[in-house]
Amino acid sequence: MNPVRSTIEALELSGIAKVALEALEDADVVPLWFGESDIVTPDFIREAAKRALDSGKTFYSYSRGHPPLRDALRDYHRRIYGLDLHPDRITVPGSTMLSVMIAGQCLLEAGSEILLVSPFWPNIRTVVEILGARPVEVRLREGPGRWWLDIEELAAAIGPRTRAIYVNSPSNPTGWVMSREEQRAVLDLCRRHGLGLIADEVYHRNLFGNADPAPSFLELAGEEEPVFVLNGFSKAWAMTGWRLGWMITPRHLAEPMAVLAECNNTGATAFAQYGGIAALTGGEDFVRAFRARCQRNRDLVMARLGDHPRVELLRPEGAFYAFPRIRGITDGLAFCRRAVREAKVGLAAGYTFGRGNDSHIRLCFAIATERLEAALDRLTALLDRV
Ligand SMILES: Cc1ncc(COP(=O)(O)O)c(C=O)c1O
Repeated sequence: MNPVRSTIEALELSGIAKVALEALEDADVVPLWFGESDIVTPDFIREAAKRALDSGKTFYSYSRGHPPLRDALRDYHRRIYGLDLHPDRITVPGSTMLSVMIAGQCLLEAGSEILLVSPFWPNIRTVVEILGARPVEVRLREGPGRWWLDIEELAAAIGPRTRAIYVNSPSNPTGWVMSREEQRAVLDLCRRHGLGLIADEVYHRNLFGNADPAPSFLELAGEEEPVFVLNGFSKAWAMTGWRLGWMITPRHLAEPMAVLAECNNTGATAFAQYGGIAALTGGEDFVRAFRARCQRNRDLVMARLGDHPRVELLRPEGAFYAFPRIRGITDGLAFCRRAVREAKVGLAAGYTFGRGNDSHIRLCFAIATERLEAALDRLTALLDRV
């Protein structure tokens, strides 16, 4: 008998990796498949981590994160949201991805259900499955003009096994930014039904227009409510390879969070945490410049794809992805593979972001504008001929 869980045997790569792994080494492909830019982490952040490494920060440290980093996170939340978070609520276990797993471990068990606001980043569904729980998808409504959450539909999906709701805003892949009203309604639903909330806010600084940061559930929820707010350094400070993020959790869970951090990773990489401090304390100019680049690129994508006869595309309000529906395409994975081969553009297949997305593709527009422009030329040429 095979002792490996059938759930594990059945795990498949996401529709991002399935496309990308076939052509990762092909230098002619413009990579719009992953959620990152082509900007190396700013110098001053790298220097801070190098200094820490050179001064011997190579040992085990606090599993919930180095105190100076947790202090810097406390100051950061005070500065950007005006919130005074109790230090017991702040944990830096490793990456944001790891925080997603830990939040899932806190709320889910075999047989329980979680509502996933879709389209969603595929790893959340996989985390739920790994934990033996069941994902229940509730898709955002499309248009007119923007994606929006039908709160009645979300409420109707709650059943006797529902334990939690997962919502990601600003959203990967749609670029939807949840309004304060939508947040209130979701929190209210959680309160009425005794549900936990996983709020993935890793794109909190990646949004367009004048608003910054995006509205956070931290501004609404009490410190003992079962609300898990996840965040990280990857997306605002170009630190995807650092695997560094944080989570804000109910205050009374300080000790369990220390144990979970210990057993999942025994804390984040010691010297990387000093890069995190530098990002929080000196990274505002970078955050602003990167936002400006992404906004320019968003406008370029809208100008090139928004009116294309084959494309239906709602204007992203945040994050750095476009999630168009391509008319006449029913197998997005086949289309993405063709785009790699024939147009040398790396995309992600829509099906991987939840049900109802087979005709969609996702493209990340965070790379340098000239490269994005070249990719859009090739993509529109492909759309004109297939
Ligand atoms: C919605 C969302 N949450 C979490 C993550 C994971 O972020 P990190 O790379 O910091 O682990 C990503 C990465 O793409 C994401 O898109």
